[in-house]
Amino acid sequence: MINRTRRLRKTENIRRLVRENKLTIDDLIYPLFIEEGENIETEIKSMPGIKRFSLDKISTELDEVTALDIPAVLLFGIPSKKDDTGTETWNDDGIVQKAIRFIKKNYPKLYVITDVCFCEYTSHGHCGVIHNNDVDNDATLVNLAKQTISHAKAGADMVAPSGMMDGTIITMREALDNTGYYDLPIMGYSVKYSSAFYGPFRDAADSAPTFGDRKTYQMDPANRDEGMREATFDDVEGADILMVKPALSYLDIIRDLKNNFDRPIACYNVSGEYAMIKAAGEKGWIDEERVMMESLLSMKRAGADIIITYFAKEVAKILKRD
Ligand code: PBG
Repeated sequence: MINRTRRLRKTENIRRLVRENKLTIDDLIYPLFIEEGENIETEIKSMPGIKRFSLDKISTELDEVTALDIPAVLLFGIPSKKDDTGTETWNDDGIVQKAIRFIKKNYPKLYVITDVCFCEYTSHGHCGVIHNNDVDNDATLVNLAKQTISHAKAGADMVAPSGMMDGTIITMREALDNTGYYDLPIMGYSVKYSSAFYGPFRDAADSAPTFGDRKTYQMDPANRDEGMREATFDDVEGADILMVKPALSYLDIIRDLKNNFDRPIACYNVSGEYAMIKAAGEKGWIDEERVMMESLLSMKRAGADIIITYFAKEVAKILKRD
């Protein structure tokens, strides 16, 4: 007898009944690039549709995000001045801190997550303090605590460290707990690879390293077991959400985390993944909308509960329409 799996694919309605995964607006986090200054609304060349905004220009974008019911934004700051250690990151009047206050005042329901890192703020573009041509882990942790508290004081709803320093989560958790922010959650960029897919982001955030690369802190794309180790440490140190980054080339890692940790799993659909689909779409080589939806659905199927994506607005529009 033939096993007839096609029986359950006959019509759209039966396909709806047996469909295992679904992408929803509730899954989405939209990244925002906020630049210090005025009157800035600059399209990022390698990320069509994505702009850097100064605060005085961001309302239209935020109106749209909230009208589309996207639950959260992830903030990246682009400061007007950089230095060796990224001191602007813990300036209570820094660009991210101002942005948090602006958003919480004018869009109180929008959930504000901040990227906690240094590379946009350091003159050398690395994610911490440099000693002997490499990022000094523990010196960076001291500054990380200061940055975290500054974001918390400004009113961030969640902090998300992306620097891949050892001891990041425990340092931030203790700093937050000791200052009364015991209720503020941390989303760990727990398994973050040293990836070429970040290329367009580094244009966007002006954060490419001026020397060397990030291989002494970000993970080797060849490694899977090590991802489990990284996630275990973040889990034990108390990260509330574990993230995998990038997403599309690391769906196996997303599934590993989903199977092994009892925490919400997020993934970051990064700039290069966005740029590839946009570029092929522009050329008419793929059906951009369908490829976008299929790749995001694959992240859900792999086990992601949350997807950080530059496609968030487009996806939300489609989901509202359908
Ligand atoms: C900063 C950071 C990066 C991204 C998010 N936070 C770049 C990097 O590590 O070089 C990448 C996001 C993207 O490519 O969309 N550490």
